[in-house]
Amino acid sequence: MRFCTMEATPTERKGLTGKARTLASKAGNLVAAAASAVSGVGPIGNHNPQRLTSGKTTDYEHYMRVPELLQLQKPEEARVHHDELMFQVVHQSFELWCKLVLFELKAVGELVAQDRLVEAYPLLARCTATVRLNTDALHILETMTPWDFHVIRAALGQGSGAESPGFRQIQQKAPLLWPAVEALLKRRKTTLLDVYTRPASQPDLLRLLENMTDFDMFFQVWRLNHLAMVKRVIGRDVKSLKGYAIHALEKDVQDTLWPALWQVRNAITDKAGTSPP
Ligand code: HEM
Repeated sequence: MRFCTMEATPTERKGLTGKARTLASKAGNLVAAAASAVSGVGPIGNHNPQRLTSGKTTDYEHYMRVPELLQLQKPEEARVHHDELMFQVVHQSFELWCKLVLFELKAVGELVAQDRLVEAYPLLARCTATVRLNTDALHILETMTPWDFHVIRAALGQGSGAESPGFRQIQQKAPLLWPAVEALLKRRKTTLLDVYTRPASQPDLLRLLENMTDFDMFFQVWRLNHLAMVKRVIGRDVKSLKGYAIHALEKDVQDTLWPALWQVRNAITDKAGTSPP
């Protein structure tokens, strides 16, 4: 007998009294509803430990699509340099993580529109953890010498990380979350400054805004770290393969995803009156 009524088999359900059966079915519906409303996934199914494949691959390899994944890097004989595998792995995993961030940010927008802030917190925290992980991943590139990089660079055509579809989509789609936040402020009849200067008044809203600030800040930290790494590898006073001056990136990295979250800090400091005139 399983512990959770969700998992009761039809025979086990038969053994339940009418009332217990209704409760069990209600619990099942609740779990299914919760699962589908957060992120659009279907109901949680019964545990069914059947083999996924009878072929040569393990279920892990089958489910994770490991063979296909490992086909996506240049084979050893085609590589121009020893460090090329590392270079491709860091960039390819970055695209995967961007895919996750975009998926979660979309869900956050939907949750905010439905006033379900508490459910949005872990998704935003997940996005932030992902960006931080990718900032750490940049250090792996620092194990490559500048001279060795040029062997790889010569094989990149005009390719640049600036063309990263995942990064560009985060830059385009994340700001679209802001109108949902503005609508929420309106529904609550409050303002950003009010939420921040009366922290106990709307703690759930404040927490949402701070979680968003975390993401925005660490997205910027990724850009700053990337820039530092680029300068270390190819220098500041040179041009990218696209002809872009590296020092111009210093200005680009000042951009934020949700500028209002940063402007309000100035207003808070002004209101506090702690700065000299
Ligand atoms: C040796 C390593 C790297 C070098 C020398 C390098 C170089 C550059 C350069 C020169 C740019 C300026 C834009 C342009 O090309 O026109 C750039 C932008 C960019 N690169 Fe890299 N990159 C490196 C690694 C990476 C990695 C590992 C990623 C992602 C995982 C990445 C993603 C990006 C992105 C997203 C931009 C746009 C940055 C922004 O607007 O702040 N790059 N990179």
